[in-house]
Amino acid sequence: MGAAPGTHPDREPTLRVVPLPADVNQHGDIFGGWVMSQVDIAGGVLAAQRARGRVATVAVNSFVFKQPVMVGDVVSFYAQIIRVGRTSITVGVEVYAWRNPTDLVSLKVTEASLTYVAVGPDRRPRPVPVE
Ligand SMILES: CC(C)(COP(=O)(O)OP(=O)(O)OC[C@H]1O[C@@H](n2cnc3c(N)ncnc32)[C@H](O)[C@@H]1OP(=O)(O)O)[C@@H](O)C(=O)NCCC(=O)NCCS
Repeated sequence: MGAAPGTHPDREPTLRVVPLPADVNQHGDIFGGWVMSQVDIAGGVLAAQRARGRVATVAVNSFVFKQPVMVGDVVSFYAQIIRVGRTSITVGVEVYAWRNPTDLVSLKVTEASLTYVAVGPDRRPRPVPVE
């Protein structure tokens, strides 16, 4: 059986969100900054799980907006760990949208790569625990 529309073929989303009218720009499309914020949250959830604690975003390595996101889309964020360094964790996030429930379409809207650093209570880098 194939994947449901609007979902990644073989993974559960880390985050699923519906943008609201407050998140649009003057043209009626969703702000890129809204998408970036949700991507950072989704990537941070996964990085914090792997780091078993607090992380800080140190870099946005790449970010591509392939398609606009619209009010009412159901937006799913699929995060996966790309690389684990000594204190850093690089996460790839793919974003898919469900649109038009009466005749559902599925679109890959964004893909991004971000790097997080495991930090301690002093906010300084700490080693990522061995799995
Ligand atoms: C994250 C932070 C604690 C790292 O401190 P730092 O002294 O720069 O750390 P280091 O130079 O020791 O680097 C730590 C790790 O980050 C990696 N790193 C640093 N800069 C990077 C960059 N531009 N891109 C990718 N990785 C980077 C290093 O390679 C290192 O990884 P490794 O240990 O796996 O080899 C510090 O930069 C910080 O507090 N930044 C602000 C974080 C923040 O507030 N984010 C939210 C933005 S509002």
